[in-house]
Amino acid sequence: MKRIGLLTSGGDCQALNATMRGVVKGLANNVDELEVYGFMNGYKGLIYGDYRMLSAKDFSGILTRGGTILGTSRQPFKLMRVPDDKGLDKVEAMKQTYYKLRLDCLVILGGNGTQKTANLLREEGLNVLHLPKTIDNDIYGTDMTFGFYSAVNIATEAIDCIHTTASSHNRVFIVEVMGHKVGWLTLYAGIAGGADIILIPEIPYDINQVVEAINTRVARGSGFTILAVAEGAVSKEIAALPKKEQKKKMEEIAKKYPSISYKISEDIEQQTGMEIRVTVPGHTQRGGSPCPYDRVLSTRIGSEAAQLIMDEQYGYMVGIINGKIKKVPLAECAGKLKSVSPNSQEVMAAKRMGISFGD
Ligand code: F6P
Repeated sequence: MKRIGLLTSGGDCQALNATMRGVVKGLANNVDELEVYGFMNGYKGLIYGDYRMLSAKDFSGILTRGGTILGTSRQPFKLMRVPDDKGLDKVEAMKQTYYKLRLDCLVILGGNGTQKTANLLREEGLNVLHLPKTIDNDIYGTDMTFGFYSAVNIATEAIDCIHTTASSHNRVFIVEVMGHKVGWLTLYAGIAGGADIILIPEIPYDINQVVEAINTRVARGSGFTILAVAEGAVSKEIAALPKKEQKKKMEEIAKKYPSISYKISEDIEQQTGMEIRVTVPGHTQRGGSPCPYDRVLSTRIGSEAAQLIMDEQYGYMVGIINGKIKKVPLAECAGKLKSVSPNSQEVMAAKRMGISFGD
């Protein structure tokens, strides 16, 4: 007999359902009896005891369905130790729910912040497993997160579509890609979509270099240029400032422009006089069905989690390293960010293709 709790927390992405299906099918097919408690809307469900008992049937037919059947919410890690507005101790409340239901394990699907809370619950003595989801691919200890390649597909399609209109009108186009503080999604979609310029937070840009790259294209007879810009892109000027000053400058930009792309667009327009358009695919990047790669990754990660539960091994994130599914101690990965190395093979390959990073 196994009793497990499941929750999905943080921003949604494709393949959350596929991963939960992997866990539940992996257990249902291999243990005598299984009780599954699905906590609603992320950690909220665990804190306030909002759950549904689910059966293996609930996980049938959801391999291809995006979003999460459990709902999700953001519960910032830094507020977990802060009582709620009625004075409730959230960590104690989560422990009480866990013990009341006599769970063998809590399986937590989420990104970096979610992982930190999972690690906190581990430190508090609960059996937890963390399964790494995010379109940002910024989780340390795993080469890939589920959701990432599905989002790469969508952002790439956006760049593909922009290509035809940009070339017809001889315009400069900025496609703004999600990714929070890292540039994985922009880098992959930028390469896959054949962008001419890629701007990511890990390689701060110099606007003069960006303009030079555009002018070089014009001089070579290309009337249009496509920039893939990460939502977290930052200029060299700002990156060189002390952290506090950086924050202040970014806040000023956020007040004046809908996002960094509009500031870059204005700067380019002022220097080149060219016609520029900004396209923001936004949350479409997190929507729709998981791509086949993510369906396979999720099934592998979910089924490994099921095996760990059968073996009573807890306190891990289940990730993928060099193509092999691995369990990584939460104590080793929680709280760390995986960013793009400016010297990575991907960046080098892009530079060899003539893609400018504005550096
Ligand atoms: O972490 C996933 C992500 O989509 C980021 O790429 C983005 O910065 C953020 O979530 C958007 O968050 P929200 O859905 O809360 O607007």
